[in-house]
Amino acid sequence: MGTVLLAAPMWVGAQALDGTALAQKNRCLACHQVDAKRVGPSFRAVAERFAGKGEDAATLDYLAQSIRKGGRARWGAVPMPAQPHVSEQDALDLARWILTLPPPG
Ligand code: HEC
Repeated sequence: MGTVLLAAPMWVGAQALDGTALAQKNRCLACHQVDAKRVGPSFRAVAERFAGKGEDAATLDYLAQSIRKGGRARWGAVPMPAQPHVSEQDALDLARWILTLPPPG
């Protein structure tokens, strides 16, 4: 009987998504932290830049694309390399999670 509980899904919707685990699985945390700048901007700084756009499909799509393809010159001198190991679904979930974070400060 206990196995039924163990097999239950870890999350039931976007709200309950464990973004930190997803970021860890996709190796984002090598360069990013939620609260502090590392190689790349903190995820809370990204949330601040795109504040109010969490429900905006074009913004989510842009961020999911930039997570998979990387980019440069939006935050500083260091470019973000492409992350082709990230699935499209994970990229979208990561973008959605980042935009739910409270802004810095
Ligand atoms: C090798 C280091 C590195 C890794 C790994 C990395 N990033 Fe980045 N990331 C960066 C840097 C550097 C920037 C800033 C690039 C710039 O100035 O345009 C950045 C920028 C971003 C941005 C802002 C994009 C924008 O358009 O403003 C997001 C969102 C992001 N990263 C998410 C992620 C996620 C999610 C992962 C994991 C799948 C990840 N990054 C993995 C270094 C990294």
